[in-house]
Amino acid sequence: MAVLDKDPREEVIQAWYMDDSDEDQRLPHHLEPKQYVSLQQLDELGVLSWRLDADIYETDEELKKIRHDRNYSYMDFCEVCPEKLPNYEEKIKNFYEEHLHTDEEIRYCVAGSGYFDVRDLNDKWIRIWVKKGAMIVLPAGIYHRFTLDSDNYIKAMRLFVGDPVWTPHNRPNDHLPARSISKVLWRRKLVFKPSMLQLETCLLELPEFEIESRGIKTCYYLYGLDACPFSGIVWLVMLCYASAYAKTHVFLFGVFHVVSKIM
Ligand SMILES: [Fe+2]
Repeated sequence: MAVLDKDPREEVIQAWYMDDSDEDQRLPHHLEPKQYVSLQQLDELGVLSWRLDADIYETDEELKKIRHDRNYSYMDFCEVCPEKLPNYEEKIKNFYEEHLHTDEEIRYCVAGSGYFDVRDLNDKWIRIWVKKGAMIVLPAGIYHRFTLDSDNYIKAMRLFVGDPVWTPHNRPNDHLPARSISKVLWRRKLVFKPSMLQLETCLLELPEFEIESRGIKTCYYLYGLDACPFSGIVWLVMLCYASAYAKTHVFLFGVFHVVSKIM
């Protein structure tokens, strides 16, 4: 009888829906009965993951490739435990404040373990348990929080595209463009693609998106049409419209999109 190959990520990443008890945040907080969430469900939320060999992170070719493909030029380490973090209990509570970022949050657990909690499409908490060897990417705009588990120790590699921005925007912060983008993508059940993520990062750096996010919402909506056979025509019409009416941000989006398609 054929044995289905288990996804190697499942050995270091598990996810489940949480209960809403006020007990210690470092406990697993399973529902009764337990309700697990598959890695595919996480993918659909835009939460990407890999299993890597944490013992060789300095020379790991797979990690190098991910960093190259996704432009993660910045890297440092963050170690969280009572001995190394002054005001440990207070800091742990701060990490647990629900917030979002305007960029991805990328963490590679090279030792220890911890919980990343993310909101699903219905605003329910999913708890993601990462252990040594797990690398996850939380998309820009997703509400989330972090806590250690009861082992009280994690060493994580932090990665970023360009100069890091760690600013947390505590909930509610739904006016941010990153939030709008996430909502549109989730509604259309689109999975983030590497080229799309790089594109998003470029776009969010353009000042006009801080002022006017309607254009980008339209673009993302149209991006969802890529699955349909007429998407080429839609993009052509949109580029003509953008050039004719000097909608620079829409035009730039179109150009980036076409380039990302070709590459
Ligand atoms: Fe965060």
